[in-house]
Amino acid sequence: MTFDVAKALRERHGENFQLHTDLLNPQLARVLKTLGFDRFYVRGEGCYLYDDRGDRYLDLLSGFGVYALGRSHPAVKAALHQAIDLDLPNMVQLDCALLPGLLAERLVARAHPGIRRVFFCNSGAETIEAAIKFARAATGRARIVFCDHAFHGLTNGALSLNGGKEFRKGFDPYLLPATTEVPFGDIDALARELRKGDVAAFVAEPIQGKGVNVAPDGYWPAVQELCRRHKTLFVADEVQVGMGRTGKFFAHEHWGVEPDIITMSKALSGGFVPVGAVLTRDEIFERVYSSIDRAMVHSTTFGRNQLAMVAALATLQAFDDEDIVERARHTGELFEKGLAPLVEKYEMLHQVRGKGLIIGVVFGKPTSRALRVRWSAIEAVRNALFSQMVVVPLFHRHRILTQVAADNLNVIKLLPPLIAGEEEVDYFVGALDDVLADAHRGSGLLLEFGTTMARSALRRGVPTASATP
Ligand SMILES: Cc1ncc(COP(=O)(O)O)c(C=O)c1O
Repeated sequence: MTFDVAKALRERHGENFQLHTDLLNPQLARVLKTLGFDRFYVRGEGCYLYDDRGDRYLDLLSGFGVYALGRSHPAVKAALHQAIDLDLPNMVQLDCALLPGLLAERLVARAHPGIRRVFFCNSGAETIEAAIKFARAATGRARIVFCDHAFHGLTNGALSLNGGKEFRKGFDPYLLPATTEVPFGDIDALARELRKGDVAAFVAEPIQGKGVNVAPDGYWPAVQELCRRHKTLFVADEVQVGMGRTGKFFAHEHWGVEPDIITMSKALSGGFVPVGAVLTRDEIFERVYSSIDRAMVHSTTFGRNQLAMVAALATLQAFDDEDIVERARHTGELFEKGLAPLVEKYEMLHQVRGKGLIIGVVFGKPTSRALRVRWSAIEAVRNALFSQMVVVPLFHRHRILTQVAADNLNVIKLLPPLIAGEEEVDYFVGALDDVLADAHRGSGLLLEFGTTMARSALRRGVPTASATP
């Protein structure tokens, strides 16, 4: 008998949290239950998720950025159905299949002219692992420089470049001391490190996901100049901000720079099949795959798997057909315009930052005395609790899925699908207005949050919905 997905989902309906508690990560189940985020989602389409009660949720998380095209995109689905029905000779391994070649061709065509080679893998972290190895092989140097607040994944190499203490704790020793952290946006700090002449690569996100941090004007061209002067490779981690999210296909294009290595993952395969791609200059591959003996010196079993290739090719096609990058830029402007009046209206809302459709809604201490007292009372319970108190009613009252941008940071991060439009912007702005009005009145928000969260959890330390990328 064949496995019947629909039947399994029907027969075991409602057991999801118990199974996770018993067999997977019980702490994740606990966080979600405490926040009241425990749902049984049954369908995802476009910008929306649907649960078993028939409720619809606006998904402004888009699977941490994978659903650029929205969920269940029909063209990507159709291509995948077709690929499965064709019984493709997948992963022959001792073969050079056509589809990875076609995808590489399309990716190289979208990158700057120096990019000539592509390596495929399965996740964002794997692209970083590859970038570290490639940079070391290409330069003959060991040290990698990264930024504070950086997030490049959680495998051992990527973790060594992670700027968040909360992720590192308990997993040392890392590749340190062969890695060095510098403040994001601080060109002098980077110069001091590169001057030592032993740095293989500077790895950085063009816009940081953790906190939605944007570097000062002039930073990226200066980074490129420094890296070239000191023969350090410049690696742009475009895993989250690539693929149109910022209103350009690659985020680094905003500053006219040409990184030596570009990493991509998340949105590349439309959210259907894990995939990662590392785009590099020719010279880098020449040093890594330097002889016939080294033809497989860096590879991974599922790397060029045909379903990932098909999903990515179909995704890129849909990007062109639907003018996704330009839509992201336009909708980003709508968010900016829609949220600006709220910054004027609410003392606690300090800033809206980001680019295109990676948006940080930044909260901070209010100016008036009464509000300051309330703010301090909330923050005394736990650092950055205020932003969590906004995320929870956005979900419960308005059925909008958002996240706190990072541990201990009063920033809510929005990563809408790039197909979002005016309707979604208006809905979110209205919902945020409602929740913040409540916070300013000091009426129901704390109460609503308190009843949603178990009192004991509050005492132990409130979990945040940011625990992940
Ligand atoms: C910029 C960046 N790089 C790398 C990663 C790691 O990707 P993955 O979770 O697929 O390993 C992430 C994940 O969020 C990311 O945002």
